[in-house]
Amino acid sequence: MERADSNMDAYSSLPVEKWWGDENLYLWQGFWFRLQYLQATQEVHNHFDAVPSDVILASFPKTGTTWLKALLYSIINRSSRDSLITNNPHELVPSLEVQIYRRDIASAHSPARSPSGGIFNTHIPYQLLPETIKTGECRVVYITRNPKDTFVSLWHFVGNSTKPWPLEMALERFCSGVVPYGSYFDHVLGYWKESLERPKKVFFISYEELKEDPKTHVKRLAEFLGCPFSGEDEEEKEVEEIVRSCSFERLSNLEVNKSSDRPTWLPLPYSSYFRQGGMGDHKNYLDPEMIKRIDTITHEKLHGSGLVF
Ligand code: A3P
Repeated sequence: MERADSNMDAYSSLPVEKWWGDENLYLWQGFWFRLQYLQATQEVHNHFDAVPSDVILASFPKTGTTWLKALLYSIINRSSRDSLITNNPHELVPSLEVQIYRRDIASAHSPARSPSGGIFNTHIPYQLLPETIKTGECRVVYITRNPKDTFVSLWHFVGNSTKPWPLEMALERFCSGVVPYGSYFDHVLGYWKESLERPKKVFFISYEELKEDPKTHVKRLAEFLGCPFSGEDEEEKEVEEIVRSCSFERLSNLEVNKSSDRPTWLPLPYSSYFRQGGMGDHKNYLDPEMIKRIDTITHEKLHGSGLVF
């Protein structure tokens, strides 16, 4: 492990490791960060002032964030669900550290409430959230995903950015935790434990659960968020309509989401957030040894937590 470049004074004392290509990650408080999001992450940690009506959508990258953004936006803003037709979900639910607190992009650095009524997204681990979220009244919804599918999705996403990411190298980085916001396992465990401690404030769901029975979970989410569906026929139709309008098939076929447009703050074009949208795709890329490697580390890390994938 090296130390950060000496010309970056603020970060020069942090441990640094290469993770892909020439890019380094910096270890801050036990988690790895890309430099361009580290400062914003620290600002969120120190300054974000959550209010009780805020909803924080938290996730590790590639676990279903885009989908859950669409769902939460639609559940909370039922009458303006059609906004999804012309806006990518990342426009409707901004990210704290990617959009709001970044100093190097024009619209950043304003901790104002979001246009969607206080729904914010973050990849920041639970352990590093600001105290106003950890001890306040706002609600947190965390989505996780099978680590093997998360890894394969991440590998595709990163490899699409500029240069391919060799699979073996990517697997080694993922398993050793040296990936942005990693380790994946510490990330998941932080939110999992908190959801057991404070179930009224932290809602924990997996991509797989949501995929298998979206209607039930949309209703559970609405209940948790304090805007339940009544159960009458009209409302049942509304639930079905939300599930349909946020489905992979529908969202990935909208012009806005097929677009190669990329706002300055987004790492890749909108279309990159919709790849395959299924379960078990890792079987098409990982050989039995690779699968065993992830399964073994998953067992070691999550053993005794009650969380099973
Ligand atoms: P795959 O790469 O396995 O296809 P994130 O939004 O956290 O970056 O996660 C991206 C993953 O979620 C990608 O997985 C993407 O295809 C999938 N995804 C995006 N929108 C989805 C939707 N509406 N329903 C299900 N999966 C979706």
